[in-house]
Amino acid sequence: EKGGWSSFMVKEITEQPEAVAKTLLGRAVDGEVHLQELEAIGADALKDVERIVIVGAGTANYSGLLAKYAIEAWTRIPVEVELSHEFRYRDPILTPNTLVVSISQSGETMDTLMAVKYASENGARTLSICNTQGATIPRESDAVVYTHAGPEVAVASTKAFVAQVVALYLLGLHLATVRGSMSAAAIADVVEDLQQLPEQMETVLKQHETITQLAGWMADTRSVLFLGRHVGFPVALEGALKLKEIAYIHAEGFAAGELKHGPIALIEPGVPVFVVVPSPRDPDSLHKKVVSNIQEIRARGARVLVIAEQGDAAVLPYADVVIPVPLASKFMEPLLAVIPLQIFALELASAKGLDVDQPRNLAKSVTVE
Ligand code: BG6
Repeated sequence: EKGGWSSFMVKEITEQPEAVAKTLLGRAVDGEVHLQELEAIGADALKDVERIVIVGAGTANYSGLLAKYAIEAWTRIPVEVELSHEFRYRDPILTPNTLVVSISQSGETMDTLMAVKYASENGARTLSICNTQGATIPRESDAVVYTHAGPEVAVASTKAFVAQVVALYLLGLHLATVRGSMSAAAIADVVEDLQQLPEQMETVLKQHETITQLAGWMADTRSVLFLGRHVGFPVALEGALKLKEIAYIHAEGFAAGELKHGPIALIEPGVPVFVVVPSPRDPDSLHKKVVSNIQEIRARGARVLVIAEQGDAAVLPYADVVIPVPLASKFMEPLLAVIPLQIFALELASAKGLDVDQPRNLAKSVTVE
């Protein structure tokens, strides 16, 4: 079933444009977003949602952290993201106007299933984002929006992650439509951005060979840090998780603004640091701030590996390696920036001779608590 690919993981990384296109299919049409699946909850109930709580584990949790930025911006509904295994043990505040959105590729993760059951029993409405038709979590939820990434076999999640973020973006746009929190023109703009993603992802995938070389040089690396800001922060977390999972390398993701509050103490000559740089077109000037973080770590001898927008000249003087991604809007950038990090983990693990599809100690779906 690997169809000539050397691993399921490389196959699934390569299938990401298709996973996004299929998840959008029939849902984002003519500049509008309609998720028929949400009829099970009802338009009135969706209008009354006062708070969204996203629960998931591992990569699914990071897709929630990422989508929070967009859903809050588009709907102005407060969004919390919580690890599913922490959720029910702290007496969370739930009302009928709380929408608990669970995210799970397999739909069988016990921690997430228990969070959904707890949410239902305590009066919240539940929606599942799931990649596996008919799995337990969607069956236990009021409604389900399936991601159409196709079967994901490699333990480390890649195409399911991007499909989850896209499904959550569609949820945000659907809510914005029923609640009138965004103009039709603004929604149409985001739909266009989403529809451009598959092609932009193909462009990023073309850099596989360059990243393979980089990973090859770094096969003896003991520790790698990842920095990102705003939507780049969950990307940093996900990049670090991939490396831990399949390459067994110590890796940490940090919010770039947190650097001076602790992580900068870890910077010593030669430490590799991936930095996810926001677009220089960013109106909040976060780009400038992240570039100044790069200068700070570079001055302390870090080996700086930058993921930046194509043509971003400001990073060039301080970067050891620049991996360019195509120009995209703010909320689409992270879905492009994550791809080089997935490839890096894959190729570093391969360079170490490891089984990338079935890493030690991990299971694709953890059905025990
Ligand atoms: C972990 C897997 O055990 O479960 C991760 O190793 C995955 O890769 C996480 O992200 C959540 O799985 P699911 O199926 O609930 O999305």
